[in-house]
Amino acid sequence: MEVQNAILRGCNHGAVSSIRTSKTHVFTKLPKSFSSQTASSSSNGVSLKNHLPSQIKRNFRCSYSIQNVECKAVSDAEEDTPKAKIRRKNLAVFVSGGGSNFRSIYEATLKGSVHGDVVALVTNKHDCGGAEYARDKGIPVIVFPQREEVLSAEDLVILLRSYKVDLVLLAGYLKLIPAELIKCYPKAILNIHPSLLPAFGGKGYYGMKVHRAVIASGARYSGPTIHYVDEQYDTGSILAQRAVPVLAKDTAEELAARVLHEEHKLYVEVCAALCEERITWREDGVPLIRSKENPNDYH
Ligand code: GRF
Repeated sequence: MEVQNAILRGCNHGAVSSIRTSKTHVFTKLPKSFSSQTASSSSNGVSLKNHLPSQIKRNFRCSYSIQNVECKAVSDAEEDTPKAKIRRKNLAVFVSGGGSNFRSIYEATLKGSVHGDVVALVTNKHDCGGAEYARDKGIPVIVFPQREEVLSAEDLVILLRSYKVDLVLLAGYLKLIPAELIKCYPKAILNIHPSLLPAFGGKGYYGMKVHRAVIASGARYSGPTIHYVDEQYDTGSILAQRAVPVLAKDTAEELAARVLHEEHKLYVEVCAALCEERITWREDGVPLIRSKENPNDYH
């Protein structure tokens, strides 16, 4: 689908109501957020192409309106796998740094171990390693929040919806998630934290600070936690954890490397479970993952 001529730099709200491509009428109306803010805020000069979900670039016919977004696959090839009955999920990953967790998730989607696609990367630092990697792979990059705050939280929601995002995965994103986003994505936003929550979590516990605090406490185990996101730092329901030993002579850097190694594996496993709809909620509100091998086992 040819859309590269649809460059939105400089257009105003509502200025573009339809765009015709060589093959089909793609948009009947663009979301507000595709207008001047989104298009001109990036130092790179963002084209519409960079803001199109990959499905649209493939075989989808879509119509957008500000309130709702409809997308229908018109010629998506049927997969010949047991997962075929479950729709592939669209993932948005949020990063502020190097994005090694994002990379491992992205690679797992390509390999097929995660039944989903990374359709957008959101970052508050447009030049961070994760954003550079995403651009290199042709994944649309959305900067949020922006310094001038031209993209509101509502705009971000509209943009994510336009990409048909099912799941939001925070992977080293250091900003608090706006309430609007949490409201619009109930039980669909996850975060990874590098300690065994609820220990060593909350505001101020990020990066090496976490690992230094773990070592100073004398704790013998640390490890990643994946939890649902609520409106505070690190307090949402815990979905998965993995214990990593803290060794007697560990430096914070050594412990961080050992924990990060497990993060990559754990986040991919959890993404796989999310995309295969293997999460169930215990009566008391604790989320559990159903084992793939034995559907009667939960962990
Ligand atoms: C990870 O340690 C994660 O637990 C924390 O931020 C770090 C992100 O690392 N939330 P990376 O950017 O994925 O390499």
